[in-house]
Amino acid sequence: MTFSYDYYLQCAKYIKERAPFEPEIGLILGTGLGPFASQIENPVSIPYKEIPNFLVSTAPGHAGKLIFGTISGRKVVCMAGRFHSYEGYSFEQLSIPVRVLKLLGIQKLILTNAAGAVNLTYHPGDIMIISDHLKLTGDSPMKGPNIPEFGERFFDISAMYTPKLRNIAKECAKDTGLRIHEGVYMFFTGPQFETPAEIRAARILGADAVGMSTVTESLTAAHCGLPVLAMSVITNMAAGITKDALCQEEVEKVGDMVATNFSEYMKKIVQSI
Ligand code: HPA
Repeated sequence: MTFSYDYYLQCAKYIKERAPFEPEIGLILGTGLGPFASQIENPVSIPYKEIPNFLVSTAPGHAGKLIFGTISGRKVVCMAGRFHSYEGYSFEQLSIPVRVLKLLGIQKLILTNAAGAVNLTYHPGDIMIISDHLKLTGDSPMKGPNIPEFGERFFDISAMYTPKLRNIAKECAKDTGLRIHEGVYMFFTGPQFETPAEIRAARILGADAVGMSTVTESLTAAHCGLPVLAMSVITNMAAGITKDALCQEEVEKVGDMVATNFSEYMKKIVQSI
């Protein structure tokens, strides 16, 4: 399935008619950032299911609405709930949210997710600022005819996770009490967690953490020239590192444990970028 420029425009037009302002910063929140969404001031919510040409969240713990509002005076639009390949969406469909946020006027994009640690020095509850990614699935959200209004057919992604924003995130981490790393995120489609052999391979390839989201969003942002800051909450050691089986409850439990501190940290970042 491919989409025309008009498809995205129609979606953005509907949202603009209901939005209170043009947002400066877009946020796509993963597991563990529920409390952050509740700190948005003067919120105006639009459920995804009411937006023509948008997608609908099916993942557990993902609310499924756009929230416009302010954080420390900055105008934000927040996607509370994101879309994943394992829900059955194609990579091309996964280009929709970020392209629509771009059409709404955002100038920067912040992405968060839950991830499993591959790096043995990481611990559940740590935060990883994503410096780069590995995605060996061979698929791309930019597959199909190029839409030149968004960007060039062939585009550079060597500094996709914008160094300047990463530096700000590192600066903001001081005095938060959070353990912050910077590392490489490796994408797996899920919904199964990885095998221990896949995790050993991921480590050899240079991954520090693994997860099932974010890369389609950062690639879409890079294509249309949006600076990106992406961060993982490490919710578990990846498969085979401990003898415990992986489960979604553990991911959500650790996500909830760091949520308050992480939300404070995110607020500082939104204020500073
Ligand atoms: N693997 C993939 N995705 C994840 C994990 C994991 O270990 N933890 C949280 N999201």
